[in-house]
Amino acid sequence: MTGVLRVGGYAVGLIGLFTAFSYYGIPQLVPEPPPAEEQVSGAMMIEEFVAAGARIYARACVLCHSGLGDRAPKLDAIATVWRERVDDPRYRGNAKSLEEYLRESMIEPSAYVVKGFGKPGSGDTESPMPGANRGALALSPGEIDAVIAHLQSTAGAKVTVAPRPVPASGVERPAAEATVGEKAPDAVAALQKFQCDMCHHLPGLAVEEGARLPGPDLRKLRETAANRVAGMGARDFIVESILFPARVTAEGFEPGLMPEDYGDRMLAAELQMIVDYLAEGR
Ligand code: HEC
Ligand code: HEC
Repeated sequence: MTGVLRVGGYAVGLIGLFTAFSYYGIPQLVPEPPPAEEQVSGAMMIEEFVAAGARIYARACVLCHSGLGDRAPKLDAIATVWRERVDDPRYRGNAKSLEEYLRESMIEPSAYVVKGFGKPGSGDTESPMPGANRGALALSPGEIDAVIAHLQSTAGAKVTVAPRPVPASGVERPAAEATVGEKAPDAVAALQKFQCDMCHHLPGLAVEEGARLPGPDLRKLRETAANRVAGMGARDFIVESILFPARVTAEGFEPGLMPEDYGDRMLAAELQMIVDYLAEGR
């Protein structure tokens, strides 16, 4: 670990701090829960309901289900694919319809783990997807229905869920803050919240000039990020570097030093702010 020696006691302290992090888990970016006004109500028309589901999906699911099929499976063919899932001997759930399969996939992601997408070392028995009805996602039953309606609609299947009446008092939503802390108000605050400045020179965050930090200087990232990995744009490269630091190691720097669990601890909105800021300076 020459990098550690290079930066002396400072980095030794950092290592102590970071040994608690899991270096093997798959980052699970914590999506921001949908805003309160996204609460679905029984008075909605079905089109509004599907549209609300699309907005919840964009906020809570697209980070992983980007449509590229790299972080999570594509869902556009789910209307037919679900039958293969439930017929697979590895299937451990009870779904008898597309609606049930979608609900089960959201609430019990490990009931079926799509081949190649399981947690590393689990032999595709454990899903890295967080349960949609709890934790940071904490969607209400009505919101889950809306997402199902959206997925059925985009997959070209019949929409079989309808808005359900919600109690006048509204829906209880466990606070995401419990696990991920309060949302940082802006990009610089987010960089500080996650202590990126302990290891990187960053735009807008003064560190003693010439101070040797364990990570690369990111003040010029706007110019360099687009050329770091062939075929990968600046924004994707930055996202990848934050969520999967082990995938690309900057030349001359120590691999394994940057925490690999930001995906578990960051709100989607915080990642977005950091990426906008580092890639485009806004
Ligand atoms: C942290 C990343 C992540 C997030 C966030 C996420 N998923 Fe997933 N999802 C996955 C992965 C990885 C899989 C494949 C493993 C598995 O089968 O559980 C998956 C599988 C699924 C499947 C089963 C796909 C199939 O082909 O059988 C559905 C349906 C699904 N997700 C829906 C959602 C919805 C809806 C949301 C938002 C509420 C969501 N996911 C949020 C990562 C994620
Ligand atoms: C404990 C030290 C440490 C912390 C904290 C840390 N990083 Fe890093 N980071 C590194 C090291 C070391 C590298 C170079 C090795 C590598 O690429 O994995 C790196 C690489 C990067 C790169 C890729 C740079 C390139 O050109 O390859 C980006 C982008 C980055 N970090 C962003 C961040 C952000 C944003 C945060 C806060 C959310 C953060 N880092 C927190 C140590 C750290």
